[in-house]
Amino acid sequence: MDARQYAPATQRNREPILAILSEVLLTRSNVLEIASGTGEHAVYFASKLASCHWIPSDANPAAQASIVAWKNAQQLQNLDFPLPIDVTQASWQQQVAERNIKAIVNINMIHISPWLACLGLMEGAGQILPPGGILYLYGPYKRNGEHTAPSNDSFDRSLRDRNSLWGVRDLEAVTEAAAAQNLRLEQVVEMPANNLSVIFSR
Ligand SMILES: C[S@@+](CC[C@H](N)C(=O)[O-])C[C@H]1O[C@@H](n2cnc3c(N)ncnc32)[C@H](O)[C@@H]1O
Repeated sequence: MDARQYAPATQRNREPILAILSEVLLTRSNVLEIASGTGEHAVYFASKLASCHWIPSDANPAAQASIVAWKNAQQLQNLDFPLPIDVTQASWQQQVAERNIKAIVNINMIHISPWLACLGLMEGAGQILPPGGILYLYGPYKRNGEHTAPSNDSFDRSLRDRNSLWGVRDLEAVTEAAAAQNLRLEQVVEMPANNLSVIFSR
């Protein structure tokens, strides 16, 4: 049985995301990806960023199985097996102690999970990253309490209908949660389809 899952959005957003990652990730870095989902991004970024070592993870066992299947299909030396990381679990960062993580990448998670997941991500990132380390987030955001496009407004409503704890986050609230963990907002880049790349440094 082939456990590989497919998320069509990854095919659309991977090139613009890669362009930003190529600029912000240091070469020869160990990169922890939180919420790798299907694993398609992990194999793509590991193949394109050959000097980085990519460590995927996800809270969901089916996603972990998909990441393993994608890894096995591609045979990339610089891609690890996935870690079962749930950022809402206390001390999740202990799973990567001693891994010398220089950057954390998190794509399309904080709006499809409770706010506690964002807080847990920030807390762990603040502890894992060394000074100068990078936290990269990608997804849709509100700015100053307003949606940036009607499509984001309807996406937000559909998320909240599925789970009242989900929803498009305020960039200012995310920035504040990061600042509380000594993560400084460095750069916000407008991306296709009304998404943002948001880059913090420790
Ligand atoms: C919309 S998917 C995005 C997956 C992938 N990053 C992508 O862009 O295709 C959201 C992912 O977040 C993961 N997730 C949700 N809550 C999480 C948590 N508390 N800790 C870690 N991963 C979580 C889900 O299992 C899912 O794989």
